Amino acid sequence: MVVERLSKRFGERVAFDDVSFEVGVGEVFGFLGPNGAGKTTTVRTLGTLIAPSSGAAKVAGIPLSPRNGPAIRSRISIMPESPGLYLRLSVRENLECFAGLYELDDIRGRINRALASVNLTDRAADLCGSLSKGLRQRVALARALLNDPAVLFLDEPTSGLDPVATREVHELIMSLRASGVTIFLTTHRLEEAERLCDRVAILNTTLRLVGRPDELRAQLFRRSLDVRLRAPLADPGAVFGAVSEVEGWEQAPSGYTLAVSDPDLAVPALARALVDADADILSLAESHHSLEDVYLELVDEDVEATRR
Ligand SMILES: Nc1ncnc2c1ncn2[C@@H]1O[C@H](COP(=O)(O)OP(=O)(O)O)[C@@H](O)[C@H]1O
Ligand SMILES: [Mg+2]
Repeated sequence: MVVERLSKRFGERVAFDDVSFEVGVGEVFGFLGPNGAGKTTTVRTLGTLIAPSSGAAKVAGIPLSPRNGPAIRSRISIMPESPGLYLRLSVRENLECFAGLYELDDIRGRINRALASVNLTDRAADLCGSLSKGLRQRVALARALLNDPAVLFLDEPTSGLDPVATREVHELIMSLRASGVTIFLTTHRLEEAERLCDRVAILNTTLRLVGRPDELRAQLFRRSLDVRLRAPLADPGAVFGAVSEVEGWEQAPSGYTLAVSDPDLAVPALARALVDADADILSLAESHHSLEDVYLELVDEDVEATRR
């Protein structure tokens, strides 16, 4: 999937603006952003439900255009934020109904495979209205799998689910990844993106950053070490200044935070210097920044302006 300078406006309101990124075949791509960031509108645009205001995209290898809508739709699936099932019909009847709408062949075989892949085979006769929210979400996922999509859009697949149901959906997404489907997953949950996604894009109307979760962390923050000692150093500047790997230091609530080029080189040198200075080391470790730190930095407009 290739997206180039895509924008969508509703009248005066800008839903997303000038968004460009690529998603590789078989990749799980996370689209992360707060409420109102434009995630759902992006999914609806790439899913050919609404037309972009400007820009271009290729979805499942096909250029996005009104004429290519049917061809794109046959190769993708969208699982929307709310499952939208017929609650008075059974699981199987729901799937039959949608398979009929999509004009699919081999409906019976497709339904059985879809049910099996979300572990719902033995619930096929249950009314959707009698299912928990988590199970309904799995039915919605089964529906999205009916046409064997090359690209699957999952819009906040775990929103409103309890931790157990969330975990089940995560496991299903992992097994789909193993089957080679390209997955475009929107979420406002950071740990979800970090856990499931090969790469993550952070959106807040405009795209703020794209990369692997670990790259985003490294890109945004200089590497640093947290040093905790039993007692403060008499002359920290002299101790830290003598270690060439240390690029800067500052006092922290429980010790010192040091900017370093390479923690693997800095830690041993620093330990020697501290011991030579008669310091009792309590701990010496690389500071950990979570994706959440990155995210909060990026969605905060004021901070964003001062960053790269
Ligand atoms: N059909 C629409 N008409 C007008 N504004 C819309 C429409 N759909 C979405 N928006 C606006 O676009 C912005 C992005 O919404 P949305 O894509 O739903 O964000 P998200 O899914 O990230 O929470 C919001 O300001 C929303 O109010
Ligand atoms: Mg949304």
